[in-house]
This record gives sequence, C-alpha cells and structure tokens, in this order.
Amino acid sequence: MDKIISLCKRRGFIFPGSEIYGGLSNSWDFGPLGVEMKNNIKHAWWKFFVYNNKNIVGIDSSIVINPKVWEASGHKDGFSDPLVECRECHHRFRADHLIGDDAWSKEKDFFDNASEEEKEKKIVELIDKCPSCGRKKTMTAPRNFNLMLKTYLGPIEDKNDLAYLRPETAQGIFINFKNITTTSRQSIPFGIAQVGKAFRNEITPGNYIFRTREFEQMEIEYFIKPPKQDSEWEDIFEGWRKSMLGWIEYLGIDLAKIHELDVPKEDLAHYSKKTIDFEYHFPFGVKELYGLAYRTDFDLKNHEQFSQKNLKYRDPVTGEEYWPHVIEPTFGLDRTLLAVLAECYKEEDTPEGDDRVVMAFPKWLAPVKVAILPLLKNNEEITKKSLEIYNNLKGSLSCEYDESGTIGRRYRRQDEIGTPFAITVDFESLENDDVTVRDRDTMKQERIKIKDLKEYLKYD
Ligand code: GAP
Repeated sequence: MDKIISLCKRRGFIFPGSEIYGGLSNSWDFGPLGVEMKNNIKHAWWKFFVYNNKNIVGIDSSIVINPKVWEASGHKDGFSDPLVECRECHHRFRADHLIGDDAWSKEKDFFDNASEEEKEKKIVELIDKCPSCGRKKTMTAPRNFNLMLKTYLGPIEDKNDLAYLRPETAQGIFINFKNITTTSRQSIPFGIAQVGKAFRNEITPGNYIFRTREFEQMEIEYFIKPPKQDSEWEDIFEGWRKSMLGWIEYLGIDLAKIHELDVPKEDLAHYSKKTIDFEYHFPFGVKELYGLAYRTDFDLKNHEQFSQKNLKYRDPVTGEEYWPHVIEPTFGLDRTLLAVLAECYKEEDTPEGDDRVVMAFPKWLAPVKVAILPLLKNNEEITKKSLEIYNNLKGSLSCEYDESGTIGRRYRRQDEIGTPFAITVDFESLENDDVTVRDRDTMKQERIKIKDLKEYLKYD
C-alpha cells in the first residue's frame, strides 16, 4: 500500500488534504491524474448503467436537503456506529471493529438492552486493553454515535436551522420519485441513478481513500412492482448482482479477488431485507467495495408518511396504486479508484534486465491515453512535428507532451502513470511522416504513419 500511496503523490494522482497546513486527518485531494481517473470512472459507469438501459434515468439532487428527509429515512435515529473511548488516552474506536463484526453481532442485542453498569462490565471483558495505549480495562461502554455531519443554514446556529450533509445520495432520488415519474414517462420497473458526494462523520476513517468523511457514491434506485412472492424480487436482485459483477470485470478487476458476503440478518441496515456486500481483496484486507440491497418499500412509504404527499405509483394500464419496492445497487467511487490502483499496480522485469513499475489500467480508464515524446528537445524540426501531433490528437484523447530526460526515463514515467501508448518522434519521422508507437504492456514498438495515428490509437 505504501508504494501505491507514494506513487500517487509523486505522480499527481492523490495528495494529502490541506497539506500546507499540516493536513486534515484522512482527507485527500485528487490531482490532475486522479481527477481524470475519477471522471473516466463516472462517465463509464453512467454509460454502463444509464445509457445502456432504456429504463434508467439520472438525477443530480442537492447535498443539503430538508432535515425531515433524514427523520423519514431513519438516518436521524438509526444511522450510527458503536463508539467506545479509552478513559486513559481518549482514543476513540468502533466497538464492532475492535471486537470483530461477527462477535459484535452476537453482543448487539445485549448492548441495546442492558443497563449502563452491565454494559461497562461487559465491554472490558470483550476489549481487555486499549489498542492505542495498551492500558487494561479502560474502555467506556459503547454509545451510538450518529454519523451524519451537521451544519447550520443561515447566520444563526439555532436548532431550527440545523441541517445535515447527505450521508447517501439515495434519499435525493426517493424525494424526487414523483417528479421523475410525472416528467420522464418511465413506468415500473425503472431506475434512477445519481453520482455525487456523500458525507459521514466516521469514527475511524482510514486505509487511505477507503474510508473517508467525504466521498462520492454512484447509486441506482430500481423501482419494481410490490412482489407477490419472494422469487419476484429475488430474480431482479440476481439480475443486478450479475450486472454489478459485469461492471467489476469491466474495471479490469479479477473476479477471483471479489468475495460476496450475504450480510447476516442482524447486521442489515435498518432499511434492508437483504444485502450482498461485494468485498475486494484490498492490500489491507478483504473489505466492502460495493453493496446491493433490497430496500422494500421502506423509503417511499416513510416519505409519504412524513411529507403527507402521495408517493404511490399509479399503474397506467390497470390504475392500481402502490408504493414500488426498491432494489439498490450502490458503488463507492473512491473505493473503485482504490481497487483499480491496487489491482493494476505491477512491478516487472524488462527484457533489458531493468525493472519497471507499471499501472496496467484498462485503456479506457488510463488518465493519459497517449504520450508524445520528441526524441530530442533541442531539435526544432522534431519538436515542431511532435507539437503538431500533440495538437492534432489532444481534442480527442487525453495526451501528454514530454520532452525532458532520456527516452528510457520518459517511458518509465509513462508506465508508472499507466499511459497505454507512447509516441516517439525521431529523424525518420521527418523523412517518412511516421512515428514509433510503444505499447505499455508488451513494450513492443511499431512504426505508424502519422495520418493513421487516430485510427491506430482507438480503444474501447
Ligand atoms: N445508499 C446505500 C448506502 O449508502 P453504504 O453501504 O452505506 O450504502 C455505499 O454505502 C457505498 O459507499 C459502499 O459500498 C462504499 O463503496 C461507499 N462508502 C461508504 N462509506 C464510505 C466512506 N466512509 N468512505 C468511502 N466510501 C464509502
């Protein structure tokens, strides 16, 4: 992991947040290459799930929405993690992380119902010593810590002006359900997709960009007819499971590194009847990458109750009215990027006996598609021709013009940022109007006529 973090900083993928002020713990900024990759992922995801399905449409809702939304969605009361604190060093931890998910699931009921005294006694049996200072029997009883980040609207910090930064993009979709059904001519079954920022006041953010307080989600709420029997929603759920695996494969991730966790009943989110977590073998362990949940009619029903607005769907043929049920495939954008970085990072020996680091990104994902490298930077004819090629390609592909250092070093630099093609302009190019194109993965070089470059560099 350290090698990836160092490469990402050195080459301009990801920087520590607020660095010149000493940082802000676990916040990260995405540099020129990081933002290209995030944009590539977002656009590809939109193409994969929205453009490819005639019954999925998009939305971009606000980050700060009426706080009543979070009462209706259950986030105000239910969206919390169990927080414990060491009385000596005051480090805070998630009890479920310290005890282990399975063990915590078994103890959860006890902690929900026991007295303060009983909880205090039990927690020190379960967590004998503080992982930070090592002192024994210092943990406080767990308390539910709400993860929503608060803010105040307007100049007065009064409880009436309290609002929250959305902890998921999903609710912006539910509260617009009626707007979309009346304007988009979609009929059940259909889906609404959204890509955008979400915020959670995580107790223990960490593992680089894996768990942060500010992150991006790509979510779809897929509305279906209330099932008469389980097999009806199960079939649709299974279809989405396969689509999600298809997307993971498209990212170039080896499916052998994906583990599907059928989330146990006691660990399900408050809205879910069934959830599968798609876990990836990250360098720091097998952890959740994506989720797929059957949210039933929980959200629309609650929003109708809290807003007093009719959110039922009326079948255009039968006139039947109902709250649609929802299948929700959800994807973290930052985790996608992290999984791709981990998957594509390779250290290799070259045939010349050197070693190289290469980011073997799928071509569509690479932040720079082609590098244009003049053989000599002080030969006017060569640099002129190189710039002509750069200017001709840059409108259709993300290109980098690099004239500093030896060709070998420039190849290594492009390998490290995963550039699939490197074009070298040399003396022969001046004579024959052709260039050398080097393939990142095979390192093979081919002479290609300049006029054929656009066609040659096509990918998909
Ligand atoms: N609407 C459902 C929902 O939000 P979730 O499992 O809590 O479900 C969905 O989050 C996805 O968002 C996760 O699978 C993960 O990829 C990403 N995610 C959640 N919390 C995150 C965090 N603190 N930092 C980065 N990504 C996060």
